[in-house]
Amino acid sequence: MQRILVTGGAGFIGSNFVHHLVAHTDAVVSVLDKLTYAASREALDGLPAERVSLVVGDVADQPLVEKLVGEHDAVVHFAAESHNDNSLSEPGPFIQTNIVGTFCLLEACRKHDTRLHHVSTDEVYGDLALDDPQRFTEDTPYNPSSPYSAAKAGSDHLVRAWVRSFGVRATISNCSNNYGPWQHVEKFIPRQVTNVLEGGRPKVYGAGTNVRDWIHVADHSSAVWTILQHGRIGETYLIGADGERTNLEVVAMILAHLGRPADDYDLVADRAGHDLRYAIDSTKLRTELGWTPSYADFAAGLAATIDWYAEHRDWWAPHKHATEAAYAAKGQA
Ligand code: NAD
Ligand code: TYD
Repeated sequence: MQRILVTGGAGFIGSNFVHHLVAHTDAVVSVLDKLTYAASREALDGLPAERVSLVVGDVADQPLVEKLVGEHDAVVHFAAESHNDNSLSEPGPFIQTNIVGTFCLLEACRKHDTRLHHVSTDEVYGDLALDDPQRFTEDTPYNPSSPYSAAKAGSDHLVRAWVRSFGVRATISNCSNNYGPWQHVEKFIPRQVTNVLEGGRPKVYGAGTNVRDWIHVADHSSAVWTILQHGRIGETYLIGADGERTNLEVVAMILAHLGRPADDYDLVADRAGHDLRYAIDSTKLRTELGWTPSYADFAAGLAATIDWYAEHRDWWAPHKHATEAAYAAKGQA
């Protein structure tokens, strides 16, 4: 039995990982989460109290983090400010949580010699050209574009430095774009799905030709657990499920599933510095650790996700108005 501290465990991916731990392991889990606008207590509903507890607090609160880390065998670090558009309008919280928060965690893991897995993004590598046959690998140079991806890149570099200089027992994963239940309506797929469910239209940035490499959140969780158990200390593993689609292709699938005409969307103002394409080569994770994704069929996973949003209006509707008002203020609604 392991005691695992999951930072950001009330967020989209962190909460899915907590469910994964409860379903597939005998770990006892503590969630450390600040419960920002992005968190959902509901995503942790129904979990057994003897297996999962929630500590409301900040990953940048050094005394709190040192105490909690000392009480656990391993830490899985999801807590972050996670939305690119927010990082363009207000970068400060991204520096504080993603960089200072990771620093606090590293110091605590160093002090207690605690195993750490750091969850990061493929966006640290910048973007690929649309017609480039290459995909990102663990050897791709860092080249982040936005305050979000730069802050995540900074956090990755801190982890690497703490491994090399202080012997902290850490691994890093860089995953592509996640989709699935409990993702905040500010993100691309939930925003477009809920726009249509409310009788509105999807809002696509620029020409809609940007490519993202989609992976179901449950596959991200299984990959992180695989790395925590079997990953080599100091190593980075890329996580992806061969899910490249243009944004327009995804919107077309959403419109078709909800019975709307294929041209029933709006092109809106582009995001500043908008990365063109992300694509992951996850050969290392698959060959070295034997991981494979379960959701091989993106169309089926997306259809199930759309149905989930249709059935969980009570959860997302209270956040929808303010989210759309923020986009409207930026000319993206
Ligand atoms: P999210 O925004 O849904 O959740 C983030 C969680 O962290 C929230 O519950 C929030 O309350 C919490 N949090 C924020 N600041 C905190 C702080 N200072 N202290 C404690 N808790 C804090 O994000 P997500 O999409 O679930 O992403 C989780 C992690 O996965 C992030 O590190 C992100 O960079 C990474 N990631 C995300 C994706 C994606 O597609 N969403 C892809 C690859 C990697
Ligand atoms: P997003 O979900 O913000 O993820 P990321 O920026 O981490 O890739 O956006 C995914 C893609 O969708 C990205 O190319 C930006 C685009 N996008 C839109 O076209 N319209 C939108 O309303 C949003 C939120 C994103």
